[in-house]
Amino acid sequence: MIDFHTHILPAVDDGAANRDEALTLIEALKREGVKTAVCTPHFDPSRTSLQDFIMHRNRAFQELSTACIRLVAASETLLHDYLFHYADLSPLCIENTEYLLLEMPFLRKWDDSVYTMLSNLISDYNVIPIIAHIERYPAAKGRAIPGRLKAIGCLLQLNTSSLLDAGCRKRAIRLIKKGYIDLLGSDCHDKAVRPPVIIKALQLIEEQAGRDYIRQLEENGLKVFSNIDIRN
Ligand SMILES: [Fe+2]
Repeated sequence: MIDFHTHILPAVDDGAANRDEALTLIEALKREGVKTAVCTPHFDPSRTSLQDFIMHRNRAFQELSTACIRLVAASETLLHDYLFHYADLSPLCIENTEYLLLEMPFLRKWDDSVYTMLSNLISDYNVIPIIAHIERYPAAKGRAIPGRLKAIGCLLQLNTSSLLDAGCRKRAIRLIKKGYIDLLGSDCHDKAVRPPVIIKALQLIEEQAGRDYIRQLEENGLKVFSNIDIRN
């Protein structure tokens, strides 16, 4: 299992506070069957420079050089006008790929400018946006939104914990059953409040959508690491 969304790097965002907590989270991921974790600390271009973000991420990475699972550098980048000030966004993408985990604005509705920014990311920067936790945005409640995002050329990531959360569960299952979800992530932040919940979520996906869907998700993950375009 590849976890495409984690906040395990120590002291870079609201995830693991220090090295000990990071290592505890990594142990928890391993117990949940994760062999590779994509490290996706928050990057908000209106608050931090890209250079500072990369420096802090590199430093945090060095602290986890003895981790018992494979760690891959990436980001959870907030879609924001300021992003377009940079000529190259590849340092934010999943290491050695064109895939970029994107956090969308938490608004009641996304107007056309949001969709235009997504299209510009794809055309001008050659990145493949992965929309983080699609089930969590108020603006994505409309049933047509996931299809619209995919038609633009985005992929959709689901938080495994949402499948077990009373507030998100119905929506998460509906997205899975519709076949909209391309990649999974735990979005784990800490051991107490937002720990990784994966095994139970995979069982639920298998019950709701069958074993083949799990296999498809696994295949997608491997292709992403090989930088193969999995969009249809
Ligand atoms: Fe996150």
